[in-house]
Amino acid sequence: MGSSSGGGAVDAVVLVGGKGTRLRPLTLSAPKPMLPTAGVPFLSHLLSRIRAAGITHVVLGTSYQAEVFEEHFGDGSALGLELEYVVEDEPLDTGGAIRNVYDRLRGDDVVIFNGDILSGTDIGSLVDTHRCSGADVTLHLQRVADPSRFGSVPTDADGRVTAFLEKTQNPPTDQVNAGCYVFRRGVVGAIPAGRRVSVERETFPGLLEAGAHVHGFVDDSYWLDVGTPETFVQGSTDLVRGVAPTAALSGPRGEALHLSGATVAADAEVTGGSTLGADSVVGTGARVESSVLFDGAVVEAGAVVERSVLGAGSRVGEGAVLRGVALGDGAIVGEDCELLDGARVWPKVELPRGAIRFSSDA
Ligand code: GTP
Repeated sequence: MGSSSGGGAVDAVVLVGGKGTRLRPLTLSAPKPMLPTAGVPFLSHLLSRIRAAGITHVVLGTSYQAEVFEEHFGDGSALGLELEYVVEDEPLDTGGAIRNVYDRLRGDDVVIFNGDILSGTDIGSLVDTHRCSGADVTLHLQRVADPSRFGSVPTDADGRVTAFLEKTQNPPTDQVNAGCYVFRRGVVGAIPAGRRVSVERETFPGLLEAGAHVHGFVDDSYWLDVGTPETFVQGSTDLVRGVAPTAALSGPRGEALHLSGATVAADAEVTGGSTLGADSVVGTGARVESSVLFDGAVVEAGAVVERSVLGAGSRVGEGAVLRGVALGDGAIVGEDCELLDGARVWPKVELPRGAIRFSSDA
């Protein structure tokens, strides 16, 4: 840990083994933390922030498409990290995944991260809070505008967590579980081994019931769960525009990020923090706004693409309109099609000219 915390080494664990079902069809070809986001795998942004906080030993708990993480990040030395991989043969859920890395932990405390959160919280302060309060577990609690969409986590005047509440219309607090925790190492060892355990539904309520000290680190900096196509696009555009924090990107931020070989017709418009993947093409008169084109995606002449993500090698035909859409890799949308909010097209599916689909899977 950075010198400010002054309490010895801290490990980081990143949970990256989920199937990412809410992000299908994008997660059919790559696990959610590996999806290209502002030109690099999503996980790079989190790893860069872990490194910037002075933590160097990072264990990835993997399961779904486990091998692709090591293929890309290797031993982590290029990022100044020492990366280890622990693979679950069967997914163990969040708590089971944390228990499964227990024998790799070296420090007294470990910071656990969900691998699908884009966050600006101060990791050093989170660890300092944990150590100063002497807690067994400290949770990053995020203040959100609409807490009714999440389970909420109230705290008392001393910052101790008093309950884990299910979603309700009128939650008593705007603090929600932000998917980032500091555990004492011994608390990890006490999670049952070798079976599925949900840290949110089983471990945390169990700790409270047993009288453990569960502390809250309340924060209201940037925070986004990129688990759905809508929030994935939001996170990507926020990174490109410099709204979301990362240490993985250099250079100025702006309206668009063009990766190598991307070509844009002189009269096309690309705005709103869009990313154009390598060798992607935006044709004459086309408009791409607040969207993500993976490598080799093509937007043909006069098409409009807003708040959408286009998988690798996918194609949007002339004059088509896509708003709030996710296209799988290699999907083809015919000329003059109109696809609106929530529509998802599976990899390699071809929609004929003029097909109109609203919020349905193809
Ligand atoms: P959805 O299927 O869309 O809900 O996504 P998900 O599978 O990623 O689940 P969720 O968003 O609830 O997971 C939160 C974090 O925990 C993500 O970073 C997941 O990768 C991770 N995760 C979820 N289940 C497991 C698991 O069984 N094993 C491991 N290692 N990680 C998991």
